[in-house]
Amino acid sequence: MKKFKIFSTLLVFSLMFVLSACGTSEKTDASPKKEEKKTLRFVTDAAYAPFEYMDKGKVVGFDVDFLNVVAKEAGYNVKLEHVGWDPLFVEIKGKTADGGISAITINDERKQTYDFSTPYFLSKNEILVPKDSPIKSAADLKDKVVAVQNGTTGQEAVEALIGKNNSNLKKFKNNNLAIMELKSGGADAVVADNTVVEQYVKNNPNENFVVIPDDSAFDKEFYGLMFAKDSKLKADFDKAIQKVIENGEYTKVYQKWFKVDPDLNALKQQ
Ligand code: ARG
Repeated sequence: MKKFKIFSTLLVFSLMFVLSACGTSEKTDASPKKEEKKTLRFVTDAAYAPFEYMDKGKVVGFDVDFLNVVAKEAGYNVKLEHVGWDPLFVEIKGKTADGGISAITINDERKQTYDFSTPYFLSKNEILVPKDSPIKSAADLKDKVVAVQNGTTGQEAVEALIGKNNSNLKKFKNNNLAIMELKSGGADAVVADNTVVEQYVKNNPNENFVVIPDDSAFDKEFYGLMFAKDSKLKADFDKAIQKVIENGEYTKVYQKWFKVDPDLNALKQQ
């Protein structure tokens, strides 16, 4: 009995020693490597291939790979969730999400409410029409039914051409629905980002669509990561974007999705 008592007392003490040792080692170890990385929640509208789209229940695309390399460089874990285009803006403004990536064009109107990273992609609106369409330029969109994704720069560009509140303008929750409207004959054209409509034509040769660029009607646009106003993340991500452009990781992601080299000068000039 006595032996047992000694044994159990020893056991208790040794346990206490082990536990306290754990405690101190945790408290005194300030090495940053062991620090847990913060996980950020980013939101997107995954109906805009090749930038973001759903594949077997997962969000994939150029933006997804780009965000992953940039977040890693900035020292964050990141979770990207498909919430849709309008909700994306609501979530970032309301700070239920840390950031957004969704081929989002940086423009003055949005800058009043949000902060943007430095630009990471050059884009321009383009017109998608059936091969035999009489529409040959932006000016030809007058008196035609045009489908766009609601709340995009494509919508703004068309409004500048045919007037706001024109009943010929059909607005959809996402760009895939706008293209479906064109396919079913409910619209004569879709206006959206060049990379998106060009990829659509390439991937669906049997549908007989073509794209029409029009530099006189559509301006250069640049995509950025979107944050709430005064978000502390902007500085970290700007630095990381700079870094992945310089160290070739951006180019690797770009080549994976577009099979050509990016025009880095166009981005650097911004
Ligand atoms: N670049 C355009 C804009 O910012 C369209 C972006 C739409 N993106 C999307 N994932 N649906 O207005």
